[in-house]
Amino acid sequence: MRVLHSSSELRTALQGVSDVAFVPTMGNLHDGHISLVSQAKRLGGPVVTSIFINPLQFGPSEDFERYPRTLSADTERLEQAGCDFLFAPSVAEMYPYPQRFLVQPPLADELCGAFRPGHFAGVCTVVLKLFNMVAPRYALFGKKDYQQWFLLDSMTRELNLPIQVIGAETERAEDGLAISSRNGYLTATQRTEATFLFQQLREIRDALNRGERDFEKLEQGASHSLNRRGWRVDYFSVRAQATLLAPKPDDKKLVILGAAWLGNTRLIDNVEVTLLD
Ligand code: PAF
Repeated sequence: MRVLHSSSELRTALQGVSDVAFVPTMGNLHDGHISLVSQAKRLGGPVVTSIFINPLQFGPSEDFERYPRTLSADTERLEQAGCDFLFAPSVAEMYPYPQRFLVQPPLADELCGAFRPGHFAGVCTVVLKLFNMVAPRYALFGKKDYQQWFLLDSMTRELNLPIQVIGAETERAEDGLAISSRNGYLTATQRTEATFLFQQLREIRDALNRGERDFEKLEQGASHSLNRRGWRVDYFSVRAQATLLAPKPDDKKLVILGAAWLGNTRLIDNVEVTLLD
């Protein structure tokens, strides 16, 4: 695997290379990322993974400073996974100018965006820059970050980028907890408790499958259940998969999204559901 730190090195390395599959990450790689790399490899072309902890997508009181920086362990894991190129730029390389040109996606103030002002503008901006640097044919994102995947897919289509965005299913631990870099912040007790987020999402799904259609009642019920257990819920929300807006009566493909704090750690997860009636 070749490790590259500047966009000019990257451009030279990728000259004449086609059908690149790209896995953008912030490092601290876990099984979810490695599964994205494996899926990328199956697409047949070379695989580029980026590791860049993007300051633009962290709010002033968020975990940018304490976000784990594990480049040498990550490099080893990527090597073992058969990744071809690792692009690991510095902040100065990614943002050479003091003024930002920001991509402002729609829905940026909803769901997670309502609690993380500027987050999705930061994500879309860095990913658009990375897309321009890597020029991939495919880009893979985990659907655990459902709103992120949705907005990046929308951005790619809306801006007519010649890239196919692929949303990969969420990798889960045996007890159902979605694999995430932030799980590493949890204490042993919190780690056991953490599975209740997924459980609440499944309970909403099961109620929808039984015919319940009062979304607000379901969202509030899940919030109360977790808050009673000592969590601090940001939101539960039932949305249409096609638009990520509140479902219309004829929307059958829905997604239930949730975000909640366990101590100082914010966890997110989601469950898709197709209504049969
Ligand atoms: O999901 C992430 O790791 C990041 O938000 C991404 C897509 C790499 C952009 O910094």
